[in-house]
Amino acid sequence: MNRRDFARLIAIGGAAPFVTPEIAWAGAAKLPPTPTSPDERFWASVRDQFVMPKDLAMLNAANLCPSSGPVLEMMYKMTKDMDQDPSQDNRVKLGDGREATRRLLAEFLRVTPEEIVITRNTSESNNLVSTGIDLKPGDEVVLSSDNHPSNHTAWQEKAKRFGFTVIEVPTPNPHPGFDHYVEAFTRAITPRTKVVAFTHLTSSVGDLFPAKEICRVARDRGVLTLVDGAQTFGLLDVNLSDMQPDFYSGSAHKWPCGPKENGVLYINKSAQPKIWASIFSAYPGRVGISRTFEGFGQRDEPAMMAFGEALKLQTEIGRAHIERRSRELTQALIVGLKKIDGVRIWTSPEPSRVAGILSFQPGNLDVRKLATALYQKDRIGCATRGGQDRPGLRFSPHFYNTQADVDRAIAAVKKYMASGV
Ligand SMILES: Cc1ncc(COP(=O)(O)O)c(C=O)c1O
Repeated sequence: MNRRDFARLIAIGGAAPFVTPEIAWAGAAKLPPTPTSPDERFWASVRDQFVMPKDLAMLNAANLCPSSGPVLEMMYKMTKDMDQDPSQDNRVKLGDGREATRRLLAEFLRVTPEEIVITRNTSESNNLVSTGIDLKPGDEVVLSSDNHPSNHTAWQEKAKRFGFTVIEVPTPNPHPGFDHYVEAFTRAITPRTKVVAFTHLTSSVGDLFPAKEICRVARDRGVLTLVDGAQTFGLLDVNLSDMQPDFYSGSAHKWPCGPKENGVLYINKSAQPKIWASIFSAYPGRVGISRTFEGFGQRDEPAMMAFGEALKLQTEIGRAHIERRSRELTQALIVGLKKIDGVRIWTSPEPSRVAGILSFQPGNLDVRKLATALYQKDRIGCATRGGQDRPGLRFSPHFYNTQADVDRAIAAVKKYMASGV
């Protein structure tokens, strides 16, 4: 970027906070207010809030999302501020900023700041739960069978150590419907069950679980619930006051488009006396459970403040709009891919059971080679899934994607299915 371009950016965006041209983002123009029915033009202006080059269609939100410009700026601004004056006096405002992010998280999830722990990521949040609950031989933990290792393996390993038993509720393909899971969890709970843990939206094929209903069934029986929200936090308009889990986990770097190594653990007020903190150190949070549970030692508070910026951007755009957008793009991908000969879609054809994530097997094509070709030749980013269990490619579109990204992805898969890779 030359000096004239940079001056222009500052002029159009009121973007004076840019402190270095390297982090100036392409479309510094201010985000317009969200129209009642957002159109492609509006979503294009959302896309402009990100530094990704225009030709890159990232369809991999389930893995890692880009941070938006406001997030990058806050991180840089506050890191620089701290490093210019690392005195404790100057750092008071960073502690204030961290608490402001806690309040934003509470608003975002519709709970209270006293129930929010700011962690490093979902992995840490899940493990703080499986380590922190008192469980002994004779106790049972009921798990859905399709979870990330930070939920699944963590319970299995801790069962070996503490002697409790893990019971699995199978997750058939395709998605058997919400009623199936409510009944399956109800049947799996016994008088010995202490915890039910499941993934709100699976990262494998994007199966959505009836979280509110499963939490209710568990609560009625005095059983604690852990909802792994890695794939719904920042995608769905999640309302924890309505869902009422005991624990809900999420990562900033996924759907919220926040900084890396920031996450959330919600601990319902009623569950707080039932969990031990795992880490005791200095610098806890200032309110509620964070005073005892969040003493993780020195933190990256500029990043925590940037996490708040990510939440603000989503709130400004409108959470319900974001959820709808991602779900629409997911459906458009499913519809387009379905028409391609030889493509087998693992994700449910029923839109209410799906959100933001879809997986498919591209005939006999080598999925690694296909993903490489899509990235290198077509500038489309996605994830692969190897092994025998529903192998293939995964697309996960978000609010920074456009309909054009979706069309390009479908056309590219169609091309390789016809001509090979
Ligand atoms: C369902 C689920 N849980 C937990 C995680 C772990 O997330 P993180 O690496 O941010 O801790 C992931 C990551 O993909 C996930 O999909």
